Amino acid sequence: MSSVPIHGNYHGYYAKRPCVNDPRLALLPPSTFSGKRVLDVGCNEGWVSCEIAQSHGASKVVGVDIDDALVRAAWRRRRTVWSAQGPPGETAETDGQSRKRKRVDVDPVGEADYFPASCAHSLGPLPIPQSSPDVFPHNISFRTADWVNEAIPEDATGYDVVLAFSITKWIHLNGGDAALDTFFSRVAAVLAPGGQFIVEPQAWETYRKAKRMDKKLRDTAQGLKLRPEDFPRMLAKLGFSELVELGSVGDGGFHRPVDLYTKL
Ligand SMILES: C[S@@+](CC[C@H](N)C(=O)[O-])C[C@H]1O[C@@H](n2cnc3c(N)ncnc32)[C@H](O)[C@@H]1O
Repeated sequence: MSSVPIHGNYHGYYAKRPCVNDPRLALLPPSTFSGKRVLDVGCNEGWVSCEIAQSHGASKVVGVDIDDALVRAAWRRRRTVWSAQGPPGETAETDGQSRKRKRVDVDPVGEADYFPASCAHSLGPLPIPQSSPDVFPHNISFRTADWVNEAIPEDATGYDVVLAFSITKWIHLNGGDAALDTFFSRVAAVLAPGGQFIVEPQAWETYRKAKRMDKKLRDTAQGLKLRPEDFPRMLAKLGFSELVELGSVGDGGFHRPVDLYTKL
């Protein structure tokens, strides 16, 4: 993998874009992931995938990324999130001077003081006990693949939700218009009828900065005819519903729309 992040394969991405309680997920209808099989394409270090698997009730989450170092970091993230999670059924809560325990199904990362991060650093993460395959952390796995061009074994059984957050620009700049066509066709092929495709597209204006990274990207960009505005039309041709705009969130350059399409 090139040292230049030409696929948007940024290391330390979530230090720049804090993602515990990701505001993009908060835009989605509450039952979006409940009991669903989810594919997160371009999962990076797995923060969003882990949040969906732990706190949004998904039965199965598969994160896929082209960069193997990021995928290894995603597996580590799974252990970190697991270690910080309190025992099911109760969590510590500060209540003025006193401390009391409140009953909840899961104590998500960021709220727990069950196993402090310093312990995980010095002693390693907590072991993962056997439990049901649809319960975190058993309900999440990661794969290294260029998902536009390579299937992964989990694709064979399909998904109910495919997530594509901040990845379309990188697919477009690396593989041209044809790669976007292939990507959307692959999403259509792996989604069950009624399944949802959730996209956070990057605006055309942001391509300019990305092109400066690498000559190959600049050369590919010269031949691009499609624009992010064409995505609804392309997806309609593949049997998706009209675009539902869920809103825009994120600070500064990360302020982007989150769009939802349903496979009819
Ligand atoms: C800018 S990051 C976005 C990370 C994450 N989706 C989010 O928004 O929080 C884009 C990610 O997509 C990955 N990526 C780019 N092209 C890919 C491809 N063809 N297949 C799989 N992953 C890809 C990159 O390695 C990178 O981790």
